[in-house]
Amino acid sequence: MRAKLVAANWKMNGSFESNRRWLSQFDAAALGCEVVVCAPCVYLAQIAEALRGTSMSAGAQNLSAEAPGAFTGEVAAEMLIDCGIRWVIVGHSERRTRHGESSGMVAAKAARAVAHGLRPIVCVGETLNEREQGRTLAVIGAQLAPVLDACAAGELVAGAIAYEPVWAIGTGKTATPEQAQEVHAAIRSLLSRHDPGAASRTRIVYGGSVTPSNASALFAQSDIDGGLIGGASLSPSDFLSICRSADRIEH
Ligand code: PGA
Repeated sequence: MRAKLVAANWKMNGSFESNRRWLSQFDAAALGCEVVVCAPCVYLAQIAEALRGTSMSAGAQNLSAEAPGAFTGEVAAEMLIDCGIRWVIVGHSERRTRHGESSGMVAAKAARAVAHGLRPIVCVGETLNEREQGRTLAVIGAQLAPVLDACAAGELVAGAIAYEPVWAIGTGKTATPEQAQEVHAAIRSLLSRHDPGAASRTRIVYGGSVTPSNASALFAQSDIDGGLIGGASLSPSDFLSICRSADRIEH
């Protein structure tokens, strides 16, 4: 059985004060799922410190593929570890499309995360155009191939893969549970070609307009092991309700 994972992706939102409020309002004590809060890098130390000794973990939204050195504006894996961070989102579609991250760069980042003991949440997903052309599984396969060349499938077990259809992110359009399940199952079978044992243990989470009202139906699918939650994670009560949906489902 895979423990459910629910990660908040705050994106470029927050302040010391609003983070403190969120943390005081979100009570993970009774939750059975694993909860990660991915905050902007300037707040990582604050979040890591606040979550120390709790069942939750702090995560970053990006890292550099490089070792520390002359890379202005970048943050190294070593620095995230130094801040008490154990998780990192890699290859989010906003970084792929707006910051020019290729699948090769995403793979290098995932490999660097794994090499430093960070748990990567590797994001993949197709655009609407790609879906309409029937290319969804080919696109996902091409995004994952360099990651599986750079990391052994077994090294990804501690992290997760997030299926986030680009057309569903921040749009209010969620993939149907059946659409998401089809892609999650395809990702698992792709992993299993590399390492069947690792494939059955790797969490594959769904992201894209998850809300308290659609989370249960998505999480009930046999290959959906939780979620990566953007907009709804900014509200501690909505995020808690999504986490509770994950708790109610075992498979
Ligand atoms: P959303 O974002 O929940 O606001 O659609 C998800 C994500 O981008 O990780």
